[in-house]
Amino acid sequence: MDHFEYRGGVLHAEDVPLHDIAREVDTPVYVYSRATLERHAQVFAAGLDQVDDPLIAFAVKANPNLAVLRVLARQGYGADVVSGGELARALAAGMPPERIVFSGVGKTRSEMVAALDAGIRQLNIESEEEGAELSDLAAARGQRARCVLRINPDIDAGTHDKITTGKADNKFGVPIAGAREMYDALAGLEGLALTGVAVHIGSQLALLDPLEAAFEKIGALVAELRAAGHTVDTVDLGGGLGVPYKADEHYPSPAEYGAMVARVTAGWNVQLVFEPGRVIAGNAGVLLTRVIRVKRGVQYPFYVVDAAMNDLARPAMYGAWHDIIAVEPSGECTTANVVGPICETGDTFATGRAMDALASGDLAAIRTAGAYGATMASSYNSRGFVPEVLVDGDKFAVVAERLSAAAIMDEEPIPDWLD
Ligand code: LLP
Repeated sequence: MDHFEYRGGVLHAEDVPLHDIAREVDTPVYVYSRATLERHAQVFAAGLDQVDDPLIAFAVKANPNLAVLRVLARQGYGADVVSGGELARALAAGMPPERIVFSGVGKTRSEMVAALDAGIRQLNIESEEEGAELSDLAAARGQRARCVLRINPDIDAGTHDKITTGKADNKFGVPIAGAREMYDALAGLEGLALTGVAVHIGSQLALLDPLEAAFEKIGALVAELRAAGHTVDTVDLGGGLGVPYKADEHYPSPAEYGAMVARVTAGWNVQLVFEPGRVIAGNAGVLLTRVIRVKRGVQYPFYVVDAAMNDLARPAMYGAWHDIIAVEPSGECTTANVVGPICETGDTFATGRAMDALASGDLAAIRTAGAYGATMASSYNSRGFVPEVLVDGDKFAVVAERLSAAAIMDEEPIPDWLD
């Protein structure tokens, strides 16, 4: 459930009509709803009510906006970060270090140092090589880095290829076959305090079965590690729960997910860590755009909108579907193509889509844009970066300023030897 709804024929974010935001901030603009973020955070946490003392670490990559992170920090959420930049954001937003976990296959030395300096809860090591490097770094500082080993369980998550992470040939984690031996070796390093394992098999999962299969494998590994004399006090189960991008789609609820987790992990006797991203932020945001013009097409008209693939990459990148609805629907429905102004055919939000009829100057909302939206933006075609707005009841604030093409150009000096 989200707080984007029609009132008096006008789409609102909570109590704010979206055309007020367009008037004040201009378009395109990302609009987030605080009440929706909070509701999703609470529903996800409630789904885990049978789990003893879970640590919920929001996957910052889904939406790293500082105000969004602050909202989640106030809900008791920690952060799953994958770069020094995300770590800095999580800390700046007020997430306590002991609630921050650091994932990723390519942590640099300076990122490891930043993590050690901050005293975060754990680094999720993704290779033996990374573990050895981290150990050297920590030992040289007279420290033991608290970490867990990310396991690649070789499970097909059944999602888009580009966001599948738990198959044997994916770059993530260490192969489950031989994981015990690698754990033995890493646990013996003087700079590591290796305290458990992590798993994350992919994103936008439509079914719980692959997750359950992965967790079963992890449970067996935990037993094997303990039998070999290791202390295992943490298991990080990652994120991945999908969300509906179409109004009539069904996805497993946090309650169903939580019940499965509680059943599979019963008796593990560890602290479980969760890294949800999309399920918290996805439906808490829309990309508000205006129709520049309607162009005649051979079969269907082209609604040329002022948002483009540089602002929201998912349709171009994954062929992803996002519902597109009029802010003030006339009641007329039609079939149209929705495209941005960028010079690529891939800059298409919808093809032959049955949708609200729109006219030049009309506002439309591209839904489910709160996760992997603004954060994946680029300035392609010298378009600048779209601003972000957070709504809270009847008020709203710009929480990321528009970064104009001119401002970006200002950062590009031409060397004087080109004069
Ligand atoms: N933990 C780890 C280690 C991850 O790699 C990810 C996502 C998450 C947690 C959060 O997953 P979520 O709960 O959001 O599914 N850009 C793509 C999604 C990439 C996801 C990458 N990893 C998209 O727009 O669909």
